[in-house]
Amino acid sequence: MPNLDLYSRPINYLRISVTDRCNLRCVYCMPAEGVPWRAHEQILRYEEIETVVRAASEWGISKVRLTGGEPLVRLGIVDLTRMLANVPGVDDLSMTTNGVLLSRHAKALAEAGLRRVNVSLDTLRPQRFRRITRCGQIEDVLAGIEAAHQVGLEPVKINAVVIRGMNDDEVVDLARKSLDEGWNVRFIEWMPVGNESPMEYSWGDKVVTAEEMRQQIEPALGELVPAKTRAGNGPARYYRLPGAAGTIGFITPISDHFCFHCNRLRLTADGQLRPWLLSDTEIDLRTPLRQGADAAQIKALILQAIESKPLQHHLNDHQRPQKRVMSQIGG
Ligand code: 5AD
Ligand code: SF4
Repeated sequence: MPNLDLYSRPINYLRISVTDRCNLRCVYCMPAEGVPWRAHEQILRYEEIETVVRAASEWGISKVRLTGGEPLVRLGIVDLTRMLANVPGVDDLSMTTNGVLLSRHAKALAEAGLRRVNVSLDTLRPQRFRRITRCGQIEDVLAGIEAAHQVGLEPVKINAVVIRGMNDDEVVDLARKSLDEGWNVRFIEWMPVGNESPMEYSWGDKVVTAEEMRQQIEPALGELVPAKTRAGNGPARYYRLPGAAGTIGFITPISDHFCFHCNRLRLTADGQLRPWLLSDTEIDLRTPLRQGADAAQIKALILQAIESKPLQHHLNDHQRPQKRVMSQIGG
């Protein structure tokens, strides 16, 4: 049984950022010059991550997702995948990646026990892709998606953050991929985090709500019918276009708080447990790990994090995380 937090949410999902580094510089995520990387010794070693996952699985965490930065830039990521796939109680091991290096690693990851991947892709246009990511080649990502399908890392989900003036004119084209190629596309409302500038400016203008996206999609492609999905207890709501093999999901941190049924904890690359994406509250696991804490002690700290999970975020009231940008949390 998953452990319940103070608001009776079952906490069964841990997102682990394995590195704060990334081989892209998406405009909404990082400044052009990047962010200072954390020093190597600040980053949790694989054995330390494994200890945390063992302790967490005893609390009922059964779903683990590897994120970054970009998880595939960390050396030995296949080894970590294998270590975590072998932890008893972990029955759904997944990864969120930008896909650039995926075609190179997909087979080994699947063999190591990775179940499925989410690939971030905000545009289908090569030049725009380069502009948004500042340095990426869309062909690499498309090859990565193809490789993931070939080795059975299913369902492959495509995450598209939609921002007005950046890619909101591609919502229909991306949605059409669920028809033409059976993609599972998830549209994510942009969250105004990771930008150091004061947030008093009207960030709301850049947010494209799920409702707006639906109003673009339905006249062009048909009615969106609620879809039953396999891995459906995350924050996305899923639909299907008539005749589509793939699904369309909406993740709506802005227009519809899903914090009320949030089932997750986050572990940063430097070993801080974050009960909540958008608050700076962190519980340090690295120090106790390096002082030789055993699984029971780590378990107690995890409980502390679960108990401190806030009820909901206050983005709409100008509350922001200050300590880290998105790439340092892992989404
Ligand atoms: N708002 C919404 N989604 C974001 N992501 C990164 N930054 C933001 C943001 N500010 C997405 C990435 C990736 C996932 C981990 O989070 O595109 O798909
Ligand atoms: Fe882009 Fe993800 Fe890298 Fe941020 S962490 S720059 S969103 S690929």
